[in-house]
Amino acid sequence: MSATLLDTTAVRARFTALQRRLAFFDGPGGTQCPDEVIDAIAEYLRHDNANVGGPFPTSRRSSALVDLAHEKAGSFLGCSGDEVAFGQSMTSLNFLLTRALARELQAGDEVLVTKLDHDGNVAPWLALQEDLGIVVRRIDVHEDLSLDYDSLASQLNDRTRVVAFTVAANSVGTAPDVRRIVDLAHGAGALAWADAVHYGPHGPIDVAAWDVDVLLCSPYKFYGPHMGMAYGKQDLLASWRPYKVRPAANDPVGHRYELGTCQHELLAGFVAAVDYIDSIGWEPIVVTTDRFGSGDGRSGERVVRTGEFLRRSSAPRGRAGRGAESRPARGGGLRRGFLRFVEKWLLVPDKHVRWTLMAFAPALGILKSAEADAIYTSSPPVSAHVLGRLLKRLTGRPWTR
Ligand SMILES: Cc1ncc(COP(=O)(O)O)c(C=O)c1O
Repeated sequence: MSATLLDTTAVRARFTALQRRLAFFDGPGGTQCPDEVIDAIAEYLRHDNANVGGPFPTSRRSSALVDLAHEKAGSFLGCSGDEVAFGQSMTSLNFLLTRALARELQAGDEVLVTKLDHDGNVAPWLALQEDLGIVVRRIDVHEDLSLDYDSLASQLNDRTRVVAFTVAANSVGTAPDVRRIVDLAHGAGALAWADAVHYGPHGPIDVAAWDVDVLLCSPYKFYGPHMGMAYGKQDLLASWRPYKVRPAANDPVGHRYELGTCQHELLAGFVAAVDYIDSIGWEPIVVTTDRFGSGDGRSGERVVRTGEFLRRSSAPRGRAGRGAESRPARGGGLRRGFLRFVEKWLLVPDKHVRWTLMAFAPALGILKSAEADAIYTSSPPVSAHVLGRLLKRLTGRPWTR
């Protein structure tokens, strides 16, 4: 079977940020922006900077940009652009949406979150537990870091209002079976509330096929600027009462959840980011990134995302994301035992130590082969410090944090 691979040389040429001798191990921190995204932001500010709703050309162009951004978001997510809200970040949008839903929740109502989730999809619910007396329960994971669907099913009951879950875990790369979670949630009359922030750059999102009720993601993780984006089913967004100022537009429904003036210049960058992905197509992105961190060196690619690396390094080969679950495979007991030992006894406060450990081998390879002068990673201080020193010793090159 022939698969289309990314032309990494041509793609790299579109990123000023990649014209340096650096290896970015910073997938969880976000992607770099291609120049067309940067140019779109600057062009908007140079030529079109205005607020919406005015009768003059720059304002009309700004209004058209907002509409276009919604349309692009709809095509990116697989929904109507009306069902999308832009905001400062996934986290801020999630607080906003959960607060809107909370107006209908009561003490004793239950929300399930998974142990794979980022705090952006957990903390808003914990805040409601504190404020309203709802009950937050946690769905367990198996030893191999795959989601425990029995734990999910056994905790569903007639008080469950929401199942909040991640489409891909930024910590360990597990990509649960979205449809299975959604079906279980809906079967119990609960909403399916998805966090696709980490998944965003790894494959196409299709909220209609997945049938999620709410989905959040962040364009800065898929080549766009720092901002957040949320999808909600039309009838839900219309039925909730968001916290907003009275004169702000109520329609289309997504606008109700965009507080104040949108970041127009970032919307221009977002549109360019979606165009960038469209210009390449998902297949080469998915096929090529599937080879990252596989350890076989066939792709010759030197940008390794740490969470992704962990998943790829231990998972059976195949596509992540939609449909069947992608997860770290069983086996590798010795390594798992070692990681557990290190986590438990040596680096207890550093819960992300796995990333760093799993990134160590490719980091060593890159630095030794002198293909990069430094590696940027958002790995947390303890492990990065220890392993960074070791790397420097072995290669004479720094692992820069
Ligand atoms: C899986 C996941 N969810 C949520 C977030 C929070 O996103 P934001 O920074 O847009 O608030 C992150 C950020 O790293 C993430 O990786």
